[in-house]
Amino acid sequence: MSLQQTLAIVKPDAVKAGNSGNIIAMIEAAGFNIAAMKKTRLTKPQAEGFYYVHAERPFFPELVEFMTSGPVVLMILEAEGAIQKWRDLMGPTDATKAGPDTVRGRYGTSIGENASHGSDAPETAAFETAYFFSCFERK
Ligand code: RTP
Ligand code: MG
Repeated sequence: MSLQQTLAIVKPDAVKAGNSGNIIAMIEAAGFNIAAMKKTRLTKPQAEGFYYVHAERPFFPELVEFMTSGPVVLMILEAEGAIQKWRDLMGPTDATKAGPDTVRGRYGTSIGENASHGSDAPETAAFETAYFFSCFERK
């Protein structure tokens, strides 16, 4: 296992509900270093570009609508095996199937509104961290 970076997003549902601080606390308690962080509201083209791999999926319009519905918190998380470690802490995509100690289990409500995002592989982590952060923004 080596030191990795992954992209985390606190999605609009969780920001709106006032849970971004709780989610950041879970991230820090799990031992991640937050290498970069910012709060912003995604534009439609930004959300479409970020989720381009899902462009042909039936839920794509709904996903873009949701991701632009309010502010998000974007973070680069760093840890040994950060990609899998963050996905384990988030829990499964469907928040109704996620355990009580996971971000989605605690703060998500459905398969669509699931409180958080995490990169799923080294290639997507590289694309996604560079999509939102320049090299000067990574500490
Ligand atoms: P994410 O990319 O956001 O971390 O989520 P994931 O890997 O667990 O799931 P993925 O298959 O990549 O789906 C991306 C996001 O699309 C929404 N979704 N809605 N209505 C549906 O059936 C459906 N399926 C997926 C979710 O917000 C999911 O996180
Ligand atoms: Mg995904």
